This record gives sequence, C-alpha cells and structure tokens, in this order.
Amino acid sequence: MSESLSYLSGFAAAHSSEVLEGAVPRRQNSPRRVAYGLHAEQLNGASFTVPRAQNHRTWLYRIRPSVVHGEFLPVEHGEFGLGYRETQPDPNLLGFRPRPLPGQGTGIDFVSSLSTIAGAGDPSAGAGLAVHGYACNVDMDDAAIYNADGDWMLIPDTGTLRITTELGVLRVSPGQIAVVQRGMVMSVALEGGPVRGLVLEVYGRHFELPERGVIGANGLADSRHFESPVAAYEDREVPGGFRLLAKMGGRLFEAKRSHSPFDVVGWHGDYLPYRYDLSKFNAMGTVTWDHPDPSIFTVLTAPLDHPGENLADLVVFPTTRWDVAEDTLRPPFYHRNRATEFNTIITGPTSEDRVFSRGGYFYTPPFSAHGVASEAVDHYLRMSDEEANQPRRVHGSSMWIQVESTLPLSFSPAALASTTRDPKFREFASGARSYFEPTRRVVEFGED
Ligand code: FE2
Repeated sequence: MSESLSYLSGFAAAHSSEVLEGAVPRRQNSPRRVAYGLHAEQLNGASFTVPRAQNHRTWLYRIRPSVVHGEFLPVEHGEFGLGYRETQPDPNLLGFRPRPLPGQGTGIDFVSSLSTIAGAGDPSAGAGLAVHGYACNVDMDDAAIYNADGDWMLIPDTGTLRITTELGVLRVSPGQIAVVQRGMVMSVALEGGPVRGLVLEVYGRHFELPERGVIGANGLADSRHFESPVAAYEDREVPGGFRLLAKMGGRLFEAKRSHSPFDVVGWHGDYLPYRYDLSKFNAMGTVTWDHPDPSIFTVLTAPLDHPGENLADLVVFPTTRWDVAEDTLRPPFYHRNRATEFNTIITGPTSEDRVFSRGGYFYTPPFSAHGVASEAVDHYLRMSDEEANQPRRVHGSSMWIQVESTLPLSFSPAALASTTRDPKFREFASGARSYFEPTRRVVEFGED
C-alpha cells in the first residue's frame, strides 16, 4: 500500500517546509553557518529582473551543493528532442490511437520512453512548445533529470506516477496533472504498474492562472487546489554512480554523481512543483443560448508576450457538468480557428483500435475546418424542440483535455510514421450532408 503524502496548498504561493526543525533560516537566506551543516542554494526560475508577479525562486538547504557531479556528456535519444523541426506545419487533421503499453519482457523507464510527437519554436529562443508521449514500466533507478529548456506538464492517462523532486514527492494519477518547472531535478517511479501519458513542454513563460475578467473573483481553477510537496530528503551514497540527466537545447546530457540529489532537508520559496486535480475545476458556461468559446474552460495558461496570445493553454472538458442551452445545437458548432488544438482523452475506456478512446490524441491545425461527427448533428436536428431544450447532466463520461496554442505545430517524422496514426482520421466529420431547402424558412426562436 502506498504511503500517504502531504501537500501544501496554493498556486505560486510562498511556502516553507523542513524535515528537521530549524533547517530553514528564519531571518535570511544565506547565513554563514546553516543549521545542521547544510549548504544554502538558490533555484531561480526567472530572469533576475522580471516583474515580481512572475519572479519566482526557492532557497534549498541541502546536504551537498548541486555542483558536485562529473562532466555532462551528450546522450543519444532517438525519438526525443527537436525532431519536429525537420518538418513543416500541415493543414491536415491528424489522429493517433493510444500508444501500446510496454510488454512484460521489456523494461523501459520514463525518460527512455519519451517520444516527441509535435512542437513549435526553439528552446534556445525562449519561445515554443512541444508535446511528448511516454509509456513506461520500470522506475528511474538511481537516475534523475532536469529540463533547462522549459516547464514540463505531465498528463497521465494510465497508471500512477510517483514524482520525486528536490522539493518533495508528488503522486499523480489520471484526471490529475503535475507541473515540474524549469531546472527542477526529478525522478519518476511507478506505483502499481505501467504508466502512459503526455508531457506538454513550454519554452517561454511559466504556466499561470488565467485572468477571470468579468467572471469575477471566483470560478475556473482555484489557487487553493494546487498542491506542492513537503520537504523530504535522503542522505544516500550511490557507489555505482547516480545518473543526472539534463535536457538543454532539445538534447540530453548525462553526468555522474556519487550521491542522490534528493538531499534537500528544508526549503522556502514560491518556485515549486505542483499537481492539480482536474475534477476540482469550476466550469462556467451558457445559461441562455449558444456555446462559449473553449477558452472558458482554461485551467492554466503559458502566455506569449502579446496580450491574449498563448504558447499553450490547458483546457479541460469536465466529466460531470450540466449542459444547458435553449434553441441551440448542443454539439459544438463547426469551426475554423486561429488557435491550434491538440486534444487527448485521459480517463474512460481505452482501445488500441480507436483514436477517440483513453490515450488517443488528435490535432486540428489553425484554420483547418472541423466539427463533431455528422451523425451527432443529424441526431440533434431530428429532436423535437421540447426534447432538444431539456437541460442534461453530463456525468461519468471520459475526460477530454485540449492544449490550445497560438503557434501551429509540426509533427516529428517519428510521429508521422507511427503505426498508431489513423490514416482515415480526417473523415470523422466529413459525412455532413446538406439540409438546404430554399422554399422552407425556419423561424428563429423569439422571432415574430
Ligand atoms: Fe476545435
């Protein structure tokens, strides 16, 4: 049975946590002598002079400073990196069935299983994003990684992850997400079987809570539901060498350490990893007619500097909600958006034969036409007005999420050649028929 873990509540909140009392200095950050003979080290998540609202850092009080390790040497990793830069954006809709879980005869850990699906931009320019997939069945033993390129959002659809970081331990299951920010050392272990999911990486600004505007002071994601770990440490020698991996410029590097890097006895600050349970999202919607744009479901946003444009918005369609609208086609309307949409399904039934199942994912490029399956539209058009206007409780359905970006994605050659790609995906909505009758005008609701 898994041990219970404690969490600290709040988004980008200032916290302090220590395993040994007094490990965190009470007055200053870097006293000449730290309690218990610890070393003080700052982990700074922003350029020094960015505005205070985005200027996050944490002070670590650790047994050995992080600098104690060997030289970083490049590591080959076939499908993980900037492969998407070898291709160009393409206006076709793309769909992928769930990636098979690794078989029992093979052991593959989180980092080894990472495969880059798509991306845009360049980490060296500080603007862009990438989507990677993982499917693994063994722990990262005596190994850890940090990402100098950007923040990682882990989005599992199968199995439970135990993410050990320098700041403490996060447990994450499907329906939850975890964010491990730039520069934080982490190691991924499995609790009870194989895990699978996506990693959303952003190279620019960190994820933020979206503005609420006229919604007011409440609704959408609440800061108190974001959870960061409490301090935990080990003082452990690793005679065979602990592997410290670093990702920089889309490439992997490895250095050897003689001790575990998870030796932080106490910390304080507001630059912390966190998890969030998507079922706690307080969704807003219409109480009259028509659908709001999907941005109403934004949980977190990684903004671009131009107002309203984003490297990546995480959007969730909650599994339990009320669907209420009058004289409205309830399935989403056909649309052609400026936004790039990358969708995946993270809870519910899975099938290696179906894109629209847990672990499947699909992509709609900017301005590429799309909509729901034509059968769904036909079904709603056949309904009586009375039936169509009934409020409905959506309950226990699969959880879909969407990553929206201002940037068009390019897909890596490995993803485009993958056997999980469904070559007929684009046909799902293309059976829409004409209902045009020039002699029959439908009177709109409320019209004289
Ligand atoms: Fe869409």
